[in-house]
Amino acid sequence: MKKKIGFGVAIALFALALLSTRFYMVDLPVWHILGGGDGPDPATLHLHGEFVESNLGIAKDPKGTFTVRMIAQQYVFVPQCIVVPADVPIRFRVTSADMVHMLSFLGMNYGLKAVPGAVTEATFTFAKAGEFKIPCHEFCGPGHYAMRGRLEVVSENQFPPLNPEERRNCEPR
Ligand code: CUA
Repeated sequence: MKKKIGFGVAIALFALALLSTRFYMVDLPVWHILGGGDGPDPATLHLHGEFVESNLGIAKDPKGTFTVRMIAQQYVFVPQCIVVPADVPIRFRVTSADMVHMLSFLGMNYGLKAVPGAVTEATFTFAKAGEFKIPCHEFCGPGHYAMRGRLEVVSENQFPPLNPEERRNCEPR
C-alpha cells in the first residue's frame, strides 16, 4: 500500500515537472518582487527615458548585439510588429504602461511578462525564419483577447545593417 502511494506521488511530480517545463516564462527579477523596483514610471514612458516611441523596436547595441524594446498597453504592443534576424540572440526589454500583460510567441515556448513600473529582460534566439503571432497571454481587461502583436523572423542576410541610431519595425497587419 505504502509503495503504491509513493509511486502515485512520483507520477504526480513527474507530470508537474513536465507541465512546468512546457512554457518558459520570464518573470520579474526577484529584487522587484521584494520591493526594490526602480523601473520606468508607466505614466511618463512616452515622455522620456528608454521607452520613448523613437527608441522602440530593434536596435543594434555598441557591442554588436541586438536589443528589442517594447511597451505593452491596453490593448496593443508598441511596436505592433517587430522584425528580427534569425539565429542571433535577441535581447528583449519590455515594460507596461498599465496592466500586467504577457508576450507569448505562438508556436514557441517563450513568454515574457510586461509589468508596469518594471523592465523585464530576456534573451531569445529564433531559429527559423517566419511570421509568428504574439498574443497577450495574461488577462488584462475586456480587450485582452484581441491584443496581439506580430514577430517577423528573417534570415540574417535579409536583415539590412542597422546604424547605431536606427530603430527598425515592420508593418502591422
Ligand atoms: Cu494584454 Cu492581455
